[in-house]
Amino acid sequence: MMQLYFNPASPFARKVRIAAHELGLSDRIELITLSLTPVSPHDELRSRNPLGKIPALIIEDGPALYDSPVICEYLDAMVGGHRIFPAPGAARWTALRRQALADGIMDAAVLVRYEQAVRPQELRWQAWVEGQLLKIRTALDALEREQLQSALDIGTISIACALGYLDLRFAGEGWRTSRPRLAAWLEALGPRPSLLTTAPAVA
Ligand code: BEZ
Repeated sequence: MMQLYFNPASPFARKVRIAAHELGLSDRIELITLSLTPVSPHDELRSRNPLGKIPALIIEDGPALYDSPVICEYLDAMVGGHRIFPAPGAARWTALRRQALADGIMDAAVLVRYEQAVRPQELRWQAWVEGQLLKIRTALDALEREQLQSALDIGTISIACALGYLDLRFAGEGWRTSRPRLAAWLEALGPRPSLLTTAPAVA
């Protein structure tokens, strides 16, 4: 049995859970919930992942596998490869680029979340927050122009996780308003069991 250190609100951990579900590996992964922030690290996690970050996948005694792109590719390889990571060629670069774009949205959104929920009020820096929000908004505009398909690969999985996290923590941002195609794409994808069973929640 593998073990996944995760948090139900983490969009990066959700990527791994969706990938596992799509690949038929969910039953082989035990979920271990951790609540942590950069200022409240977790010693056991740090002994497995020196960066102290989730998701981290324990596959045997020793270092964990991290981060989410590496874990997802590992799971894909476990079932023979090229299921959610396309074979070398144009489709692979598209999927990897989309993963990078979506992971960038999640990076920026989690940083803003920490700034707003963890950093003491007197230390907050609004211009920095605006800089992160600009990254998110510009990336969403780029996604609105993409021809997204309904098949799940590592690119579309990552995009679904980024949008789900915005809905969880930044509902007031109203990302759908000026991005109807992206909203319709997510809506059509929504009923998939891998998305439903991993819907973000607050731990
Ligand atoms: C959150 O609560 O927003 C969160 C939790 C874990 C990782 C990233 C974000």
